[in-house]
Amino acid sequence: MKKTVEVLPDLSALVARSLDLILSKVEPAIEQRGRFTIALSGGSTPKPLYEAIANQNLPWDKIHVFWGDERYVPPDHPDSNELMARRAWLDRVDLPATNIHTVPTLEADPAVSSAKYEQHLREFFNSASAEFPALDVVLLGMGDDAHTASLFPHTAALRVHDRLITVGNKDGNPRITFTYPFINAARSVIFVVAGANKRPALAQVFAPVADDFTYPSRLIQPQGELWWLMDAAAGSELPA
Ligand code: 6PG
Repeated sequence: MKKTVEVLPDLSALVARSLDLILSKVEPAIEQRGRFTIALSGGSTPKPLYEAIANQNLPWDKIHVFWGDERYVPPDHPDSNELMARRAWLDRVDLPATNIHTVPTLEADPAVSSAKYEQHLREFFNSASAEFPALDVVLLGMGDDAHTASLFPHTAALRVHDRLITVGNKDGNPRITFTYPFINAARSVIFVVAGANKRPALAQVFAPVADDFTYPSRLIQPQGELWWLMDAAAGSELPA
């Protein structure tokens, strides 16, 4: 694993750096594999980044978008990560609808949706059940409780190692989430973290010793590249 930590002066610099880093992965992926695959994070931090990506002139037909996690709500619900990404980015560019790989969230049982998303991913990557296919980029945020995707502290989702997708649990509300082994299979994992409220969690995630199930972002140790991009409000006190 190659780990890089960058602290940018403010949110706009963080967004600009995150954009540059993502763009640097697009062409090589297309040259080598004919496509670029990225899993999006939700929440509020990535919205300006998605707006910035939408302003780029990219080979949209070769770009495939997934979600690293999704709230268990319909796609038109205000909490939907899909809705946020569509409004900020996906509905503003000529990305073919078949390149937008949405998380099914309309089944009565979230476990059925989780299995359907997994099946779709395996078919897309032509991946056998024993392996973890590699996305080019998995974008992640981090909560102030050190969760990432929908891998929340002390939840069952943290102990799922044999699947790509599982059902997360936030305060009793189901989520659909990448498992951490699937995240770790990515060629590049990029955390984009902003705000002073993330400081305590970052201190624990970057501590030499701390409990992974209390601070789930510690579980993200990809075979490929690990990038932590933060604004100064979040990361200025981290040990160099
Ligand atoms: C979600 C996200 C989640 C998010 C963190 C940080 O569905 O909420 O995927 O993991 O990245 O909670 O959220 P903010 O960027 O809003 O602080």
